[in-house]
Amino acid sequence: ALSTELKKQTQLREVAGVLLQATSVDNWSQIQSFEAKSDDLLICTYPKSGTTWIQEIVDMIEQNGNVEKCQRAIIQHRHPFIEWARPPQPSGVEKAKMMPSPRILRTHLPTRLLPPSFWDNNCKFLYVARNAKDCMVSYYHFQRMNQVLPDPGTWEEYFEAFINGEVAWGSWFDHVKGWWELKDRYQILFLFYEDIKRDPKHEIQKVMQFMGKHLDEAVLDTIVLETSFEKMKENPMTNRSTVPKSILDQSISPFMRKGTVGDWKNHFTVAQNERFDEIYRKKMEGSSINFCLDL
Ligand code: A3P
Repeated sequence: ALSTELKKQTQLREVAGVLLQATSVDNWSQIQSFEAKSDDLLICTYPKSGTTWIQEIVDMIEQNGNVEKCQRAIIQHRHPFIEWARPPQPSGVEKAKMMPSPRILRTHLPTRLLPPSFWDNNCKFLYVARNAKDCMVSYYHFQRMNQVLPDPGTWEEYFEAFINGEVAWGSWFDHVKGWWELKDRYQILFLFYEDIKRDPKHEIQKVMQFMGKHLDEAVLDTIVLETSFEKMKENPMTNRSTVPKSILDQSISPFMRKGTVGDWKNHFTVAQNERFDEIYRKKMEGSSINFCLDL
């Protein structure tokens, strides 16, 4: 049974039409008044789009491919999560304040809920997008095992909730469209999960250049190897194995679940797929973004 405190944390509350964890909403004014610095790099993702993966890639680049340095802390603690609040632990904002510059931070917020100082300071943003179908599947399994997010219900029920944006951090469609629309106006490196999967070295090189780093081939090869799904699944600093079962129950579904492109085909019925494609066309109308759904 969940403790009362944990149950409280499963609650989601709305901010401007976007569901967030109630504890983040309680802390909303502190989050909105966050003071970004011009040399901040913000890792931005919709949940289940490869956040942990890109964090490890960024950290490996930052540490010049030094594996031991990347073992200094679990991945959740290396880059402050700006909207994170779970008292009495220090909030993401407080952790970011304590961090020396240049800071690398992360968020799942959609553009319209981002603290304005990130835009005002013209920070660098690294956005990773994942195709909606695989993202939905990954989020469904994540909500099954995550005891501080609402129970996802049946797959059929979850399908509706996801389409309607009735999940934590809101609509996938709004999130991806929002960041895509701003990508040429701000310093945004926009990456796709599927591209990293297909050609990790090429995408890692782009991240390296964006971060203003220069690493030689051998180091890049190390980073490709160390950030592979197989390696990260075994790595206790990235696989969430240190999180108590009362929060993440990996016997229900592992955090490093499959790490593939196209697992949606094992979940979507033909009818769901047709319905999804129709809804996708409507919701993404006018956007030039293009996703790969299969490798
Ligand atoms: P699956 O559930 O499809 O396996 P996030 O970190 O944003 O929560 O995203 C988690 C998803 O990214 C999970 O997807 C997880 O397996 C996948 N992932 C994590 N590390 C990965 C890696 N090195 N390569 C490919 N996928 C990875």
